[in-house]
Amino acid sequence: MSVYLNGNIVGESQAAISPLDRGFLFGDGVYEVVRATGGALVDAGRHWRRLARSLAGVRIARPAALDEAALSDLGSRLVRDNHLVEGDALVYLEITRGSVPRAHQFPPAGTAPTVFANAVPFTPPDALRARGAAVITLPDLRWGRCDLKTVNLLPNILAKQEAVQAGADEAILVRDGVVTEASTANVFAAVNGELRTHPLSERILPGVSREVVLEAARALGIRICEQPLSPDELLAADEVMLTSTTNDVMPVTRIDGNVVGGGVPGEVARRLFAAVMQRRARSGQ
Ligand code: PDD
Repeated sequence: MSVYLNGNIVGESQAAISPLDRGFLFGDGVYEVVRATGGALVDAGRHWRRLARSLAGVRIARPAALDEAALSDLGSRLVRDNHLVEGDALVYLEITRGSVPRAHQFPPAGTAPTVFANAVPFTPPDALRARGAAVITLPDLRWGRCDLKTVNLLPNILAKQEAVQAGADEAILVRDGVVTEASTANVFAAVNGELRTHPLSERILPGVSREVVLEAARALGIRICEQPLSPDELLAADEVMLTSTTNDVMPVTRIDGNVVGGGVPGEVARRLFAAVMQRRARSGQ
């Protein structure tokens, strides 16, 4: 595999990052995951805008050469170079505050950030979509800026692992009596003909798929209500679904071992998934 590291495309085994990198020592960095389908990046502009927002939120200066066009060129090149133009792939991009002797405060001005990117093959979870995902609910133990896509993912990792060990596919997180999001996805519910989801705030990631699904829902004439749900409301919903770059729209059919939405993928999830796929095909992605 060829990967990008600090301005160069190199073989994965040649890509060396210092053990003093602040991403490694402190989780002091941000990232994006962008889907590629048929060689084209999906919603790249939205991902790069969120990246800029995350960088600003943690006060890492974006390397001047990496404007949106350069990031898209880089992602596309990694997809091509690694022969991933057919089918699906994921482009990963991470920017850390750089490699310097360990000290908690920011390094001296001018310290170069570390920039890493790669592209890997990806198989969309279509079989799971056909039967629906099982989730468990867990307390949301994350920090107060979940709107920034940082590499500090320990609470997400522990939640996902607990889900997997429970034989489930995802963990849905609950804070102060409301459903925030899942460990790697946003959460939606269809309730009395309305599509409900947590409003944008510092408690959830502003998911690119969330935004795209809301636009698709509006275009389909589905009423939207950006109000949090309680775990009881989620369980009683007509349908529950997850959205993310890797899931697109994923129906949930079990929550904590209880059947939700009749235990089969629902109509709203099916229509939204179809609409997202149509938009993608139309935009040539
Ligand atoms: N995760 N919420 C969290 C906590 C996430 O980690 C993700 C995505 C999302 C959905 O965001 P988007 O629709 O922009 O992918 C919501 C990625 C895929 C990951 O960490 O691998």
